[in-house]
Amino acid sequence: MKKVAIFTSGGDAPGMNACIRASVRGAIYHGVEIFGIYRGYDGMIEGDIEPMNSYSVSNIIQKGGTILKSARSIEFRTKEGRQKAYEQLQKFGIEGLIAIGGDGTFTGAKVFYEEFGIPTVGAPGTIDNDLYGTDYTIGFDTAVNTALDAIDKIRDTANSHNRLFFVEVMGRDSGYIAIRSGIGGGAELVMVPETATSITEVISTLQEGWNRKKTSSIVVVAEGDEEGNAMEIAEKVKSQIHMKDVKVSILGHIQRGGTPSAQDRILASRLGLGALEGLLNGEKNVMAGIINEKLVYTSFEESIGKTKELNQDLIRMVKILSV
Ligand code: F6P
Repeated sequence: MKKVAIFTSGGDAPGMNACIRASVRGAIYHGVEIFGIYRGYDGMIEGDIEPMNSYSVSNIIQKGGTILKSARSIEFRTKEGRQKAYEQLQKFGIEGLIAIGGDGTFTGAKVFYEEFGIPTVGAPGTIDNDLYGTDYTIGFDTAVNTALDAIDKIRDTANSHNRLFFVEVMGRDSGYIAIRSGIGGGAELVMVPETATSITEVISTLQEGWNRKKTSSIVVVAEGDEEGNAMEIAEKVKSQIHMKDVKVSILGHIQRGGTPSAQDRILASRLGLGALEGLLNGEKNVMAGIINEKLVYTSFEESIGKTKELNQDLIRMVKILSV
């Protein structure tokens, strides 16, 4: 393989730039030409593709976002869109791809290989940490630290005003950010999509706390919780408790930006190089991941299809530590 291309797709995540840098520098080291595809699959379809060199990735290791930009492509979901993308890659002579993204990105790459035979190796880039085949995804650690920082600040004001706060963190289908930031921030309760927590349970836990003379409480809610988002949950709880000073804080997209943590930069660098070297060694339709400090490759089928279980011990811990 002499010509490869790299792109970022789906929700951006801090550390994606460090990952791009590692793949590009790795390609140069191995004497392979590397191209950058802008705006994910949309850019692939439109031929928004440029050659990259060592300087293209200078001074980006510390930057959030992605220099290649990202998109959630609708057109790539169609056969016609993928046909156009294939033709663009042919124009540039690109033989293999490195995709930094999440399950939607890898689903697209898998179908693309089945139809057009272009191999892809993925690097898990999503703040959600919801991919099977790696202990952590790129951006997760930074997002947790961002959420934690916000929770610490909310605690100050919650305490000053004797208020109950529902803090919503990202996680469409997963509670990883919620559970980690909740434990780190000393939340009374964490609500995640993986475990059912009824409104009755929420009320009784809060009530028990107030009976023990707690004056303020923080409940961290993953946006995809089965009881609804933080706003909806707050409404349900509010109508059934005596405490009327209830506030909601939605952290939103600030969790996706910012300087990547040391952990994310190192993880991203390992995965960027791992994805590139995997591709050059003939790996295809796999995601590079780090499990127990070792670089491993997991098929897209498994990484998309299998669920990475949330550690139930952490859930149990929240309850104990808020006593
Ligand atoms: O997939 C990562 C993620 O940040 C989810 O946690 C969140 O639900 C979603 O992306 C938001 O996506 P968008 O930026 O397209 O609104």
